[in-house]
Amino acid sequence: MRTDTVHSSAEQTRDLAYLCAQKMVKIADIELGDFPLLLAPMEDVSDPPFRALCKKYGADMMYTEFISSEGLIRDAWKSVQKLDIYPEERPVGIQIFGANIDSMRLSAEIVERSNPNVLDINYGCPVKKVTCKMAGAGILQDIPRMVHLTSEIVKSTSLPVTVKTRLGWDDNTQYIVEVAERLQDVGIKAISIHGRTRKQMYKGEADWTLIADVKNNPRMHIPVFGNGDIDSGPKAVEYKNRYGVDGIMIGRASIGYPWIFREIKHYAATGEHMAVPSIEERVAAAHQHLHHAIEWKGERLGILETRRHYTNYFKGLPGIKDYRLRIVTSDDVSEIDSILEEIKLRYRDYPMEELTNRMKLKREKV
Ligand SMILES: Cc1cc2nc3c(=O)[nH]c(=O)nc-3n(C[C@H](O)[C@H](O)[C@H](O)COP(=O)(O)O)c2cc1C
Repeated sequence: MRTDTVHSSAEQTRDLAYLCAQKMVKIADIELGDFPLLLAPMEDVSDPPFRALCKKYGADMMYTEFISSEGLIRDAWKSVQKLDIYPEERPVGIQIFGANIDSMRLSAEIVERSNPNVLDINYGCPVKKVTCKMAGAGILQDIPRMVHLTSEIVKSTSLPVTVKTRLGWDDNTQYIVEVAERLQDVGIKAISIHGRTRKQMYKGEADWTLIADVKNNPRMHIPVFGNGDIDSGPKAVEYKNRYGVDGIMIGRASIGYPWIFREIKHYAATGEHMAVPSIEERVAAAHQHLHHAIEWKGERLGILETRRHYTNYFKGLPGIKDYRLRIVTSDDVSEIDSILEEIKLRYRDYPMEELTNRMKLKREKV
């Protein structure tokens, strides 16, 4: 018997555990699997009803919409409501933004009371009314200030702190490799990088080469998540292999299509495309989104504020406009439910593959 190659089952279990441990991506103690897919924070999109769907369809970690630190410390209802998280969606991060150190510190304390898994700082928002106050991506114009603010936030909370940011302010200030290292040195536990500068806003193609440079920096030991333009299994797998990131964060491709997470996972595991969701699944998603929103915000607000979201699940279906108009003008839940049933019957035999292909083509033009 060749004792040198035959391992006992205890040894095999140990080896397997070792391999798993090697591959496991972790934010502090939070285990996220070997190649996690994260739902990006998105204002007016990544709320609890939408997050629940993304979780159901494979997101490994999710972030709330960004929350204003100034709003939080003033107890503004709109900001406070965004702190709501549900046990089934964990692990979840709450994202805050702001420029004032005291407000950000106080906000970190407020966030901690909501007990998320992670506190995320937004250093990526490109909108002028945010950047002109040196918040969001605005702080990319002053890296020492960014490092100091981060350090103060890390000190003020026992939560793991993560950062989401961009490559730099503009083409001439793409300091992300140095920035990531300095933020790691003051204690952040993971970084998500959108491969655009602030100046680019959402234009052009995301450039992942600098994200790869951050990952390849031998001093980096925290997870580096890549973000920007991922909208299919093949692209996710190609970018994973080409840029070596620890995981991928997905934003726009999930809007109206939370199935993107399971499709990427399926493709990564098998190299094959998964069948796109049937009309029954789309109707079920719209139904769940609406009813969860009603549960969360009450009937009137739930119906009003989620109108444009749950109708996203039917985007591109020929002739859907009439149904959409009826849905978005109805104030009555049971009426909306029956319109959803009508949609299910009407599109029962529609070739969904065509719709998905058209949606992908449209996204490529964005
Ligand atoms: C509607 C919308 C809202 C967004 N809101 C936020 C936000 O609150 N916080 C944040 O860090 N990024 C926000 N972003 C940026 C996304 O998180 C993400 O970085 C960006 O969309 C690029 O990723 P994608 O190509 O996968 O969409 C938002 C993007 C969109 C489209």
